[in-house]
Amino acid sequence: MQLKLVLLLAIFGLAKIRSEMRYDNYKVYKVNIENMQQFELINAKEKALQLSSWREARHLGDSSDIMLPPQTQQAFEQLLNSQNFNYSLKIDNVQTLIDAQRPKQRTGYMEWTQYHTLDEIYAWLDVLEERYSDIVTPFTIGNSYEGRPIRGIKISYKEGNPAVFIESNIHAREWITSATITYFIDELLVPGKPGTKDIAKNVDWYIIPVLNVDGFVYSHEAVRLWRKSRFPSDPSLTGDCIGTDLNRNFDYRWMLIGASDDPCSEFYAGPSAESDLEISQLTSYIDNHIPDGTIKIYISLHSYGQYVLSPWGHTAEEVPEHYPQMMAVAKGFADALVRRYGTVFTYGSSATTLYEVSGSGKEWAYGVKNITIPYTIELRDKGDLGFLLPPTDIIPVAREVTEGFVGMIAAAREIGVLQ
Ligand SMILES: *[C@@H]1O[C@H](CO)[C@@H](O)[C@H](O)[C@H]1NC(C)=O
Ligand SMILES: *[C@@H]1O[C@H](CO)[C@@H](O)[C@H](O)[C@H]1NC(C)=O
Ligand SMILES: [Zn+2]
Repeated sequence: MQLKLVLLLAIFGLAKIRSEMRYDNYKVYKVNIENMQQFELINAKEKALQLSSWREARHLGDSSDIMLPPQTQQAFEQLLNSQNFNYSLKIDNVQTLIDAQRPKQRTGYMEWTQYHTLDEIYAWLDVLEERYSDIVTPFTIGNSYEGRPIRGIKISYKEGNPAVFIESNIHAREWITSATITYFIDELLVPGKPGTKDIAKNVDWYIIPVLNVDGFVYSHEAVRLWRKSRFPSDPSLTGDCIGTDLNRNFDYRWMLIGASDDPCSEFYAGPSAESDLEISQLTSYIDNHIPDGTIKIYISLHSYGQYVLSPWGHTAEEVPEHYPQMMAVAKGFADALVRRYGTVFTYGSSATTLYEVSGSGKEWAYGVKNITIPYTIELRDKGDLGFLLPPTDIIPVAREVTEGFVGMIAAAREIGVLQ
């Protein structure tokens, strides 16, 4: 019996046992939110019309990107028309874009021409750790809820450097973030890259390419547009009600605003601050392994929208003490990035009339750890393809972000945040 089971698993492969959700004829609409009534109307219809938010409007006059399954699209369009919303159809069939992200044949190793699985990324980390053992120090903050190691690397050419900390793919479906940051790691390590030589040698980089490892694997194998962790806050929960929005789970102004206490919400902050292992172990790793004051810049890498967002997220009433520095360094990033392909990033604090957030990584980095420059960076695009950028976009995105980081470090030096 046992032998048979082992054979079956060997034949079909563990990964294929889970059936994958399809998004045939799911559509994404871009809906302008001109006033609070429109904002509230959309929120009120979320459950009845099975709305799924891809991107929320950040202020009045901005737009939200909203996905709907085929069966509620007609009712949704009727609602939009009857209430005089301005809207447009952005994506006609979500499944088509998902299929286009899937390689016909996996290459296994990293060339940034396809999206990689966690196993492939980890196999590549193994190679780096061996090849660049004098520069690279591997670390693991601990295991995820489902028992996967959460791995990172420290890149340090010499002692005494100031540090930048980057966590990426905290939201499972934002695959472009780990694709981008692995390219950046390569730029820092491979010899003969004049553009990044200086920032590699004179800055220490702590990078976790995939923080939400369980969600990432789940988004590869089961539900492509999964966002949260896979921790069920209550054992009876199933489906969308599993998992925490890890970027609402940090222990700073937890659940104050812009987060949900409903486990079924995409923005569920978890049963308590740091309820999820991914976050409690991330913060204790930083607390216990990186001397206070070493990290000057903290980046939480996301997609999409093309923003550099600083604290505060929880209030639009005041700006933090270091807001001028945050904006100067964000400008350095955005100005360097736009020069490559003309991609425009907007920068400012998170909190505006509509979109407030608390319990996020950058808020914790500033509010608890006093890290002067803390950002959420939202990579391409502005919503044409959203989370489903084709693999051919990986290298352009990664190149422009690499140049953005070079500009960011230069700006931070200029104002004395980095020496
Ligand atoms: C729709 O958009 C147009 C142009 O952007 C704007 O002038 C108009 O007020 C909008 N209508 C509504 C109902 O929001
Ligand atoms: C951050 O600053 C506050 C207020 O100055 C201080 O109480 C706290 O100990 C600092 N925390 C760290 C980790 O340096
Ligand atoms: Zn995100």
